[in-house]
Amino acid sequence: MAASRIAGWAQQVMLLTSLLANTSDFAAVDTAKPMAPTSLTTFQAQVTVAPTADIGANLIANIDDPNATDAQSVCPGYLATQVDFNNCGFTAQLSLLGEACNVYGTDIQDLVLTVEHQAKTGLHVNIQPAHVTSENRSWYILEEGWVPAPQQEGCLDEADLMFSWTNTPSFGFNVTRKSSQEVIFSTDGSKLIYENQFIEFVTSTNDDYNLYGLGEVIHGIRLQPGLTRTIYAADAGDPVDANIYGSHPFYLETRYYDVDPDNSSNETPAKHMSTSHGVYLRNAHAQEVLMHETNVTWRTLGGDIDLYFFSGPTQPEVTSQYLHQIGLPVMQQYWTLGFHQCRWGYENWSMTEEVVDNFGKFEIPLETIWNDIDYMKGYRDFENDPVRFPYDKGKEFSTVCTRMVFTDGNDTGSFMLNPDGTLYIGEVWPGFTVFPDFLKDSTSKWWLKTTSDWYKKIQFDGLWIDMNEVSSFCVGSCGSNNLSQNPVHPAFKLPGEPGAVVYEFPEGFNITNATEAASAGYGSSTQAAAASKTAVSSSATKYLTAKPTPGERDINHPPYVINHVHGDLAVHTTSPNATHHGGIKEYDVHNLYGHMLLQNTYKAMTAIMPGKRPFIIGRSTFVGSGNYSGHWGGDNYSKFAYMFFSIPQALSFSLFGIPMFGVDTCGFSGNADEELCNRWMQLSAFFPFYRNHNVVGALSQEPYVWESVIEATKAAMNIRFQLLPYMYTLFYYAHVRGDTVMRALAWEFPNDPSLANADRQFFLGSAILVTPVLTQGQATVDGVFPGLVEGTDVYYDWYNQSAVNVPSKKNTTIDAPLGHIPVYIRGGNILATQQMRMTTRDARKTDWSMIVAMGKDERANGTLYLDDGVSIEPESTKLVTMSAQTAASKNAERKRVTHLRIDVFVDGDFTDLDLPLGNVTILGVAAPPDGTQVKIDDWNVTSCVEYCAERRMLVISDLKEALNGTAWKKSWSLTL
Ligand SMILES: *[C@@H]1O[C@H](CO)[C@@H](O)[C@H](O)[C@H]1NC(C)=O
Ligand SMILES: *[C@@H]1O[C@H](CO)[C@@H](O)[C@H](O)[C@H]1NC(C)=O
Ligand SMILES: *[C@@H]1O[C@H](CO)[C@@H](O)[C@H](O)[C@H]1NC(C)=O
Repeated sequence: MAASRIAGWAQQVMLLTSLLANTSDFAAVDTAKPMAPTSLTTFQAQVTVAPTADIGANLIANIDDPNATDAQSVCPGYLATQVDFNNCGFTAQLSLLGEACNVYGTDIQDLVLTVEHQAKTGLHVNIQPAHVTSENRSWYILEEGWVPAPQQEGCLDEADLMFSWTNTPSFGFNVTRKSSQEVIFSTDGSKLIYENQFIEFVTSTNDDYNLYGLGEVIHGIRLQPGLTRTIYAADAGDPVDANIYGSHPFYLETRYYDVDPDNSSNETPAKHMSTSHGVYLRNAHAQEVLMHETNVTWRTLGGDIDLYFFSGPTQPEVTSQYLHQIGLPVMQQYWTLGFHQCRWGYENWSMTEEVVDNFGKFEIPLETIWNDIDYMKGYRDFENDPVRFPYDKGKEFSTVCTRMVFTDGNDTGSFMLNPDGTLYIGEVWPGFTVFPDFLKDSTSKWWLKTTSDWYKKIQFDGLWIDMNEVSSFCVGSCGSNNLSQNPVHPAFKLPGEPGAVVYEFPEGFNITNATEAASAGYGSSTQAAAASKTAVSSSATKYLTAKPTPGERDINHPPYVINHVHGDLAVHTTSPNATHHGGIKEYDVHNLYGHMLLQNTYKAMTAIMPGKRPFIIGRSTFVGSGNYSGHWGGDNYSKFAYMFFSIPQALSFSLFGIPMFGVDTCGFSGNADEELCNRWMQLSAFFPFYRNHNVVGALSQEPYVWESVIEATKAAMNIRFQLLPYMYTLFYYAHVRGDTVMRALAWEFPNDPSLANADRQFFLGSAILVTPVLTQGQATVDGVFPGLVEGTDVYYDWYNQSAVNVPSKKNTTIDAPLGHIPVYIRGGNILATQQMRMTTRDARKTDWSMIVAMGKDERANGTLYLDDGVSIEPESTKLVTMSAQTAASKNAERKRVTHLRIDVFVDGDFTDLDLPLGNVTILGVAAPPDGTQVKIDDWNVTSCVEYCAERRMLVISDLKEALNGTAWKKSWSLTL
């Protein structure tokens, strides 16, 4: 999929650099008897595989099977012996405490337990078979080369977490927070089950627990009893509560305590505090986590129990501790924070250019234009369609034949195999398709060569990695022995084709667009917001698994059936028996496929563009993918419900260390309408990755399609552009410190239990609170201002810059007519802002302003990080630390006046353009200043000072001369 970056708006939009490629479905096999014409269009129907090709065995998920055996009731558990202490912990033997139950595999007789304290905040608990051989190693051990194992140096006596264990009635353990004696994890009382295709451990929980994470899933932010979180990478269009693209076996748990439980007074509300901790199961196998009322049951189809506990005790600390171990988020290039327009259905260069021109015409900022699979020749990666997307448009067309992609890869043994050693050939967009084996070193070289060969033909700045679960449209190696029938059309109907799904409109479309709805034959009933699972094993007849064969594994149909969205593990992806060089089965590494592809793409791009930060947006991610890539929310729908889900999805990815996140704005599948797109273009302006994307055949939804959306988009973009330096600084802190960019209210206000499930509002950093309208037909929105009623915090309305005043109740109804998104600045923060231009490049050349939002304590702080915006290791950087305070006193005339002091501390040599500071706006200034003479570093300077009593706002402008026309050249202090 391709995107071209708009480099200079002023000089008539030029499609300059980046072409982002769909590098998902890989090289087409070079055997197609070309029944296809040279110029394929999206709708060309040719050979297809049978529609049944993507249907697997009919299975009933274990959790839905009333007759399923409960391993806890039939298995014996283990006994710990031979405890052997060392510096940082101990090891022990675990032996089966009775006859094997062999319930969903073969029980493993002997295990080794390793307990290791890591630094102060980490605890590592590992349980693996005592006898791991080179043959079965991949069944149990996740290689550190693929997924790093947390290694916090040093084990200290004052470790936060304690490990205790028991052998009665069988082996179980507790992890306890030492300071409070709080048990954060307890398998005591349940059995450990460890078989070759099934592992189960259970931790008992407090009532009404708050878990977050365990992605990827479309769900509210808090995960609660009743939900089963299945983790198995799947190409599935954002079904609610099912497994989708990414695999993140990590959760954050937050527990609230009543600080003064004896307080029964009605006047003083109960005071709370909370602690948070993190639990990471470093395991890449298919797995699921069953959330019950009183326990959380973790089941995996292989691997080991490789648990890491992070003590927190706050969310920011848990996240930082976790991200320091799995890989900190990669720094993004500055321009990637600009606006991206995309769709499937921009059929050729001229249509693409027309879209770009329209943005110019309506003066809507546009940073990049993206193409979906339309640009490809026969949907092949690394090959542009010569008629619709020729290279020579603006660039010499190179004649290198990209079928070399396949031949090269095949010659170097870079593709996955069948168990018999022949090529594994699935089916994706180009037809029969082979899949790179990224577990093999030489594949990286081939991937690099292929990527750089294409780069020679079309220069790109980034790559969009779609479908890397990895998707395949047929079960098994359907191309084997079948190559003469290369399908140029997938087995399913493409959007717009006869018999394909008819696109729906958003909720309430029939009300807001009655005429259009009637003529479209649109029914009056609004569809259920939640999309149904794409493939449910409806009236499933149970797949008849025999009892597991001792010592052997049935990897295509494991005895324990996870609640996979597609049922059979082989559906819509490569089969579990697809084989890597060296014999490793896809069964053992499936969830890593997307991650390895992202990692290799990062390597390729750093080789092609040395020193430059790769821009990669990937669909399937794993623990640590944020170290290489951003992520978009996948194939969502043009529904208000999905606009809402974008918030909890983004917040989960904050916890997973992938802050570069956004969803297909206005929705991918289905038709958007004016109201939805108006709201959504505004909401996404506050997400790091801001892209509008649409499916082929749906109605156009670029922001210029509706007049009100043009206005709404510009209004929100205007704020986004002002906040870009702030957002970029947040990314810097995510990159160096493991901070989050988008934040849940509960993380900023950890002592307010009422926020535990708050996911209809969010913070951007700690300074910006966004309260969007998420439902159809509303002109107001209910929101909270945490800390306001409690008296700890103050918020300023972005638009009128006055402090928000709310009655003493928690939920406030806020005016939010169409085109208005409520945004607030939280007191205590200083923002360095710039202005909106058509691209980020030009915005970076505008004068600076400073918004100082005073906190309750009459203080405010902020930071600004500056660098060249592209380099992995910039030659120079600059960190600006800003602080301000005000103090009221009575002047000689006994009038109340305010004294102001602002300190700016500049560290580092980076010189941007030495741009001036235009003005400073101070919010929340209770009384006028004592005069208008501004001093900088004790020198009287010329400036303009205005105080607005009604808004309690003080504006100091015209500071240019005072600072020699440079805002951040050196440190300074301002007093008034
Ligand atoms: C459960 O077992 C009963 C009794 O053998 C049988 O009638 C029923 O069909 C089984 N249910 C499923 C879902 O297999
Ligand atoms: C684990 O914690 C529970 C609950 O506090 C306690 O009853 C049990 O004795 C503990 N077990 C171990 C092994 O520490
Ligand atoms: C976990 O909770 C479920 C649901 O209440 C229950 O059926 C199961 O027995 C519990 N498991 C253990 C090991 O306590």
